[in-house]
Amino acid sequence: MNVTVFGTGYVGLVQAAVLAEASNRVVCIDIDTDKIARLKQGEIPIYEPGLEPMVKNGIATGNLVFSTDAAYGVEHGELLFIAVGTPPDEDGSADLRHVLTVARTIAAHMDCKKYIINKSTVPVGTADKVRAAIGEQLAKRGIPDLPFDVISNPEFLKEGSAVADCMRPDRIVIGTSEAESEQKLRHLYAPFNRNHEKILVMDVKSAELTKYAANCMLATKISFMNEIANIADKVGADIEAVRQGIGSDPRVGYQFIYAGIGYGGSCFPKDVKALISSARQRGLSADILTAVESRNERQKHYLADKILAHFNGNLNGRVFALWGLSFKPNTDDMREAPSRVLMDRLWGQGATVRAFDPQAMEECLRIYGARDNLVLCDSKNDALQGADALIIATEWQQFKALNTGELKAALKTPVVFDGRNQYEPDELGEAGFEYYCVGRPDLTTAR
Ligand code: UDX
Repeated sequence: MNVTVFGTGYVGLVQAAVLAEASNRVVCIDIDTDKIARLKQGEIPIYEPGLEPMVKNGIATGNLVFSTDAAYGVEHGELLFIAVGTPPDEDGSADLRHVLTVARTIAAHMDCKKYIINKSTVPVGTADKVRAAIGEQLAKRGIPDLPFDVISNPEFLKEGSAVADCMRPDRIVIGTSEAESEQKLRHLYAPFNRNHEKILVMDVKSAELTKYAANCMLATKISFMNEIANIADKVGADIEAVRQGIGSDPRVGYQFIYAGIGYGGSCFPKDVKALISSARQRGLSADILTAVESRNERQKHYLADKILAHFNGNLNGRVFALWGLSFKPNTDDMREAPSRVLMDRLWGQGATVRAFDPQAMEECLRIYGARDNLVLCDSKNDALQGADALIIATEWQQFKALNTGELKAALKTPVVFDGRNQYEPDELGEAGFEYYCVGRPDLTTAR
């Protein structure tokens, strides 16, 4: 099919590459001329496993074309995807400016029936706004009867496995009440709907709310578990044992019940805020979501509090090795990452950070620039040299195997603060370490 995707961010670029791989003719439109120029050369602005070869292949086969020419994009695609950003407004609600600009651009150029598909995470009612913006523009052009449909088709991909998620989705939500739209999208997604039925057709508003409900449910699981971890701390229980104890009940499940130093990224924080704001606008107080958010904000300080207590409230002149900067493994994304709150706290107390992340070093330099209290290290071992303690903020695979001998030799004092419960306390204790983790009894006996 002929498809155009507006927006070459995470969602748009991955979706476009995957649709091109499935032999659709896909045009990607973005207003960022520099980004489009680089994409044309096969240069990918983000790190996402499997994306680069797929984009390069799309360019080589001619199935994937990048352009800044919106008129060409509208003309090309029968299906027009809107996949632009919806950053939070000051009050936390999603800013629809970019979505509505694309809607008006589409209406300014279309001259036959188009299926406009919303992939961006947008509040309930956005499809109506897109519909109204297009209708208005068509009326201005004197062609008010030109047919079109606005469909909600939210994206559920995870950073770090975006391509795989898109190739093998666990569900495909299609929000429309028009049979023709449903049929077009069923056709488009047929290659991704093998083995068992994954397509769920529903009304537009339910599709829009499904996306928020999904992310907020997962954020709730995490914050709930972090709250239990804090209680475990105080009563002397072990959250890892509790996790296994509750996860074995299939009604609870093992996923997203790992205690840690909070969720980050571009989705959970933004979507929780946006749903709270949507509820408020309708006179409701989103009590659970408000608690989910405030628990998460506090959780990001969890490790800094323990570090400060360990060093008797004085970090001046201390040096910390920090493993992990991205908000989760397999991405270079540091948006809302707990590591940022942690570094700010350490810097605020006069400490220096020796940081290492397998992918996010460039991003870290972009955010913080060159500064005295941040040493960007070449490897995890380099980060350890001369540090007073090791801190783990992200559970990258390469951090999981700990060489306690090397670690002990490199650190000034054998202390580990683990924000992701990566190690067995007993093993570290036997190796002579003090070990602080989340919701498990800390090992402070070595002192
Ligand atoms: C999320 C949703 O999973 C995805 O479906 C949606 O489309 C976009 O938002 P993403 O932001 O890429 O995806 O990250 P995800 O893997 O879901 O992790 C979110 C955060 O939760 C990370 O910071 C992670 O460290 C944290 N997390 C996750 C926990 O703290 N504990 C857990 O048990 C699981």
